[in-house]
Amino acid sequence: MHLPDLDIARKREKRENKYIELKENYSKIFKGKKYFLRTYGCQMNTHDSEAIRSYLETLGFIKTENLEEANLVVLNTCAIRENAKDKVIGFLGKCHYLKKNNPDFKIALTGCLCEQPDVIDEIRNKHKYIDIIIGTHNLYDLPKLLLENPKKQEIEVYSESDEIIEGMHYERDSKITAWVNIMYGCDKFCTYCIVPYTRGRERSRKLESIIREVNDLKNKGYKEVTLLGQNVNAYGQDIGENFAHLLEEVAKTGIERVRFVTSHPWNFTDAMLDVISKYENIMPYIHLPIQSGSNNILKRMNRRYTREEYYDLYTKMKEKIPNVSITTDIIVGFPYESEEDFLDTLEMVKKCAFDGAYTFIYSKREGTPAALMKDDTPQSVKEERLQRLNELVNYYSNLSNQKLLNKVVPVLILGDSEKDSNKVYGYTDTMKLVNVDGPKDIIGEIVNVKITEAKSFSLDGTYVDEKVHS
Ligand code: SAH
Ligand code: SF4
Ligand code: F3S
Repeated sequence: MHLPDLDIARKREKRENKYIELKENYSKIFKGKKYFLRTYGCQMNTHDSEAIRSYLETLGFIKTENLEEANLVVLNTCAIRENAKDKVIGFLGKCHYLKKNNPDFKIALTGCLCEQPDVIDEIRNKHKYIDIIIGTHNLYDLPKLLLENPKKQEIEVYSESDEIIEGMHYERDSKITAWVNIMYGCDKFCTYCIVPYTRGRERSRKLESIIREVNDLKNKGYKEVTLLGQNVNAYGQDIGENFAHLLEEVAKTGIERVRFVTSHPWNFTDAMLDVISKYENIMPYIHLPIQSGSNNILKRMNRRYTREEYYDLYTKMKEKIPNVSITTDIIVGFPYESEEDFLDTLEMVKKCAFDGAYTFIYSKREGTPAALMKDDTPQSVKEERLQRLNELVNYYSNLSNQKLLNKVVPVLILGDSEKDSNKVYGYTDTMKLVNVDGPKDIIGEIVNVKITEAKSFSLDGTYVDEKVHS
C-alpha cells in the first residue's frame, strides 16, 4: 500500500527526469471478460484513458458500454472542482449496488482524485468496496494489480513525479485525430488549482520521442495531432528545449493539422507566434485562459500577468496570425472578488470579444493556497455573476460564428453527427464544431463545407465539393 502525500506532491526540487521504456507483455488472462471505462476531466485524462484501454485489452478484456454486464469498472477521475468529485461519488453508488449482487464485479479508481489525501481517507472509511486505487503517476501498475486480484482494498498512489514513460501503447478512440503528450505536470501553482499537486512537477518528453510518435501517427493515416500539456509554453525548460522549436519540428513532419493545449498567457514567446504564423498546418486556434479581468484578482490567483499584458498578447496574436480564433477560461467568485473586479472581467470579455469561453464558479480545493483565503461572497451572488458572464460570452461566440455564415471553410470530418445520424460532424481549422450535410465517405477527410446556419455553440453546413487535400 502506498498513500498520497501532499508535502511530497508540493516539492519542486530540481531532479533528473527518469525516462522509462515499458516493455511488459501480458497474456490475455481475462479473455472474454468485459470492462466499463468512464472518464472525467480534461484532455490529459481522456488520453490517459486510451492507455487504460490498451492495458485492459492487452489483458483480454473487451469494452462494454453497459455497466450491468461489466466484470470490471474503471473510473478515471478529476479533482478540478467539487462537482467533478460529486459526479464520481454519485456513480460509485451505482457500482456499489452492482457489487452487492455480484461480488466478482471489480471496481478500480484512478485519476486526479486519487492523488488527494483527504479523498483517499474518505475512500478508506466510506468506500471500502472499491478494489483498486491507482495514482496518476503509476497508471502502469493497473495490469499488475488486476493480475494480483487483491482480496482487500489495494491503494497504490505515489506522489513522486520524476518518471516519464516512453513507448506507451494507446488504444486510441479515433483513427483520425490523436492526442500526443509533450509534457506532464505543472509548476505554475495558480492559487486556486489542484493540478500541480495531482499531476506533479513539470517534466518534458524528449523531442525525438514526440516527433517519432507524430510520424508514426501520420504513417498510420492520422490527419491531426493535438500536443498536450497543462502549460505548453513551459515545454522543454527542464531539458534545454523550447516549445517554438518543438512546434516547428512537429509542423515539419507534414501531418495535416497540428493543434496544442493549453497556452498560459505568461511566457508565450514571439518565437511561438512566428512558428504558428509560418506553418499552414498549425491551426489558427489558441486557447488562452484569462481567468479574471481584474489585476487585483489575477495577482491573488498568482497568474503572473496583468490585464494589460494579456491584452497586448491577445492583440499581437490577432495581428500576427491571420484568422486566428481565441478562446478562454474564466473563474467567477474567487475569494475577495468584488463587483468592481467582476466588472473588470466583463470589460475584458467585451474588449477581446472571445470566440468562446469556458466559465466556472470558483471551487475551493483543499491543500491549495486559495483554500486559506476568506471567501465570503454569497453563493447566490456567484451564480448571478456566472449568469451575467455567460450571457456576454454567448453573445460573442454567436457573433464569431455568424461571421462564417455563407462562407466555404475547410472542415476535418470526424464521424457521424450526434444531432442527426444522417449527417456527419467535424471541426474548422479555428476549432468550431460543424454538423455537415454530406456523404459518409468524407469521414476522415478535410473537405470544403458551406456554412448554412450559425448558432452559439455550433454551425450547420453542407459539403460542397471534392476533398481539399488527398
Ligand atoms: N492548465 C490549464 C487548465 C487547467 S484546468 C490552464 O492553466 O489553462 C481548466 C480550467 O479549470 C482552468 O483554466 C480554470 O479556469 C478552471 N479551474 C481550475 N481550478 C479551479 C477551481 N478551483 N475552481 C473553479 N475553476 C477552476
Ligand atoms: Fe492549474 Fe495554473 Fe497549472 Fe493551469 S497553469 S494547471 S490553472 S496551476
Ligand atoms: Fe481534472 Fe486532473 Fe485534468 S484535476 S482537469 S483530470 S489534470
